[in-house]
Amino acid sequence: METNRKVTLTYNEGKDTTEFPVLKGTLGRDVVDIRTFAKTGMFTFDPGFPATASCESSITFIDGDKGYLYYRGYPIEQLAEQTDYPEVCYLLLNGELPNAEQRAEFNRGIMRHNMLHDQLMSLFKGFRRDAHPMAVMVGVVGALSAFYHDSLDITNPEHRRISAHRLIAKLPTIAAQAYRYNKGLPFSYPKNGLGYAENFLHMMFSTPCDEYKVSPVIARAMDRIFTLHADHEQNASTSTVRLAGSSGANPFACIAAGIACLWGPSHGGANEAVLKMLDEIGSVENVPAFMEGVKNKTHKLMGFGHRVYKNMDPRAKIMKQTCDEVLNELGLHNDPQFKLAMALEKIALEDPYFIERKLYPNVDFYSGIVLSAIGIPVSMFTPIFALGSYRRLD
Ligand code: CMC
Repeated sequence: METNRKVTLTYNEGKDTTEFPVLKGTLGRDVVDIRTFAKTGMFTFDPGFPATASCESSITFIDGDKGYLYYRGYPIEQLAEQTDYPEVCYLLLNGELPNAEQRAEFNRGIMRHNMLHDQLMSLFKGFRRDAHPMAVMVGVVGALSAFYHDSLDITNPEHRRISAHRLIAKLPTIAAQAYRYNKGLPFSYPKNGLGYAENFLHMMFSTPCDEYKVSPVIARAMDRIFTLHADHEQNASTSTVRLAGSSGANPFACIAAGIACLWGPSHGGANEAVLKMLDEIGSVENVPAFMEGVKNKTHKLMGFGHRVYKNMDPRAKIMKQTCDEVLNELGLHNDPQFKLAMALEKIALEDPYFIERKLYPNVDFYSGIVLSAIGIPVSMFTPIFALGSYRRLD
């Protein structure tokens, strides 16, 4: 929405001026509309877009200085406490939380789509067994574009709805099969009596001989991981999907591009990098030497720092609490790797290098620890981030 304010740019040693309208942001800061900037004969330069909005959106709001994250106006703390992931998906897609009837109807709609076409199942077998599950995710999600042709018109809201439901429903199945193929386990199928997070854990860990009993604490932790990763404004992978989609390309192929972007260790790959880092450090005695290396910029402290949050990552606070719940449930508080993680966190939080640069633990520091405690292999961490994030086609 336009305000009556303008920003005036003076250039060419004061000879020329151009005025730009100031728009009201959906929440938070106002926005200078620079769409006519090219008329000045110059470009703007803003690598990484810290000052640039590429679209108008009312879905997610982040205040990085204050550590706020809202989905559709609801604080993330409230959603993590009082809702589950399918309700959050409904909220992000529709703008409001569902009532009981809408919730049941939405869940039924998702369940209708959670199987994979049998031919798509054969595709997994073309990968080497040791392929990284993110490579399989990029390939198989991209291949959805070769299977579901009936609702691809992204200008049609009903087509967008069906494609979004397919993604919400099929991504857990794809991620679980990527894991099972890697392990040499037979493919598993969704079970419709289970909740979304429980179903994912069932598909990951049940075998024909042994049904995995899902503890409510673990299912809740899994559900929270999905919720906390469900949306994050115009981050690198969301922007990738939007850029790929701006040419009118097949929506499933665009989502595969976003998953490729998410794979990197600066983004969704960070939770995997945290566990690799803990393995490399080995034990608490090696922490001081490792920290010296961080300060000399030999390596980074993975799971610390954020492009937007410069005070506190609100998702990290929730995940830290979840981490405690999971470690208690599994009796793992004395596990050497978790003790090492906690020692690292304490040292970093007190060290001037991190304080001066406003580097705090991010969500991936704790989500890596939670996933590892649940028994999820490190290579599956980023696919889990991906399946939480890719339901949006709007
Ligand atoms: N360890 C050590 N030093 C760091 C780190 C870190 N994790 N992150 C930033 N710095 C230093 C950096 O070297 C620079 O120092 P100096 O001022 O001396 O040059 C200063 O802090 C500012 O760094 P920056 O690169 O301008 O910071 P950024 O905001 O562009 O980077 C980041 C954000 C997330 C890419 C970075 O903090 C990082 O690589 N962190 C580790 C990876 C990670 O945990 N990523 C997950 C992000 S949360 C999940 C998601 O939303 O994708």
